[in-house]
Amino acid sequence: MSEAARLSVHELSKRYANGAPYALRHFSYEFGDGVYGLLGPNGAGKSTLMNMIVGNLKPTEGEVLYKGAAIKELGKEYRSLLGYMPQQQQLYETFTVKRFLYYFAALKGLNSAEAKTRISDLLELVNLLPNANQRLRSLSGGMKQRVLLAQALLNDPKVLILDEPTAGLDPKERMNIRNYIYSIAEGKTIILATHVISDIEQIAKEVIFLRKGKTVLSGTSEQAIQAVGKYIFETEIPREEYNSLNAVYPRNRVIGERGGLVQVKIIANEAPPVPSIRQAAVSLEDVYMYLYP
Ligand SMILES: Nc1ncnc2c1ncn2[C@@H]1O[C@H](COP(=O)(O)OP(=O)(O)O)[C@@H](O)[C@H]1O
Ligand SMILES: [Mg+2]
Repeated sequence: MSEAARLSVHELSKRYANGAPYALRHFSYEFGDGVYGLLGPNGAGKSTLMNMIVGNLKPTEGEVLYKGAAIKELGKEYRSLLGYMPQQQQLYETFTVKRFLYYFAALKGLNSAEAKTRISDLLELVNLLPNANQRLRSLSGGMKQRVLLAQALLNDPKVLILDEPTAGLDPKERMNIRNYIYSIAEGKTIILATHVISDIEQIAKEVIFLRKGKTVLSGTSEQAIQAVGKYIFETEIPREEYNSLNAVYPRNRVIGERGGLVQVKIIANEAPPVPSIRQAAVSLEDVYMYLYP
């Protein structure tokens, strides 16, 4: 990467206890401007990595640098330019939306005038102005996620870490969150963990696939697609032949049905001996299916 990386992660490893398996192993990456998708199933190490990037968790090995300086040396200076949306929905159920945001604004060191403008801007951005005086416990999952996102944006962070920001949301709410993220992405490094490909498919500059604490593939979406494209095939077969195909090629995915023909994508090392088999047009979803059998 020619532009200077804002955030550099060097050989980061974590084991939660002596002798425990590595939750993350030798992870290195350079993050510049833009949205980075961190992908992988539960247990892959996404939250572990994020917790080390935000400084909540001490690495077993390796370090995180912000513009070349170790974050553990930067301390407060680093925290002031960091936004973090943790995976678990936090407590504070009896707080109103406004009170919750003022509370975090104070923790982040905003004075009350700054907090006032910022909070009303953010409530507008995440479309929660009408709910400002509602208690958190009365909000839907999607509204809570939006409150948490607003919280992460209070200090106009340069580095924004979002751990499964769309977990538990319906498709419309997911799309909203994705749009908010995209709308604020300029001039920031945003790292977004998810196992929902559509969360990042259109907006990620680069994607990083983790499996059991190791990077299995990373780069632009095009590069990721290029890397696995030759293993993804496509064909149409009569509906009644699908079950026998499925028995031989369980790594397949039905993508449509038309005029009694089922359209199927198949993951295989070589083209299956099936009529009209061809190389498929590959999506990130296929990459995910390929990497996580
Ligand atoms: N606090 C913890 N103590 C011990 N093991 C943990 C802890 N948090 C995560 N792990 C383990 O580390 C691995 C990676 O977990 P995690 O980072 O939460 O993955 P992800 O966010 O991708 O689901 C898993 O095997 C998990 O069980
Ligand atoms: Mg996680």
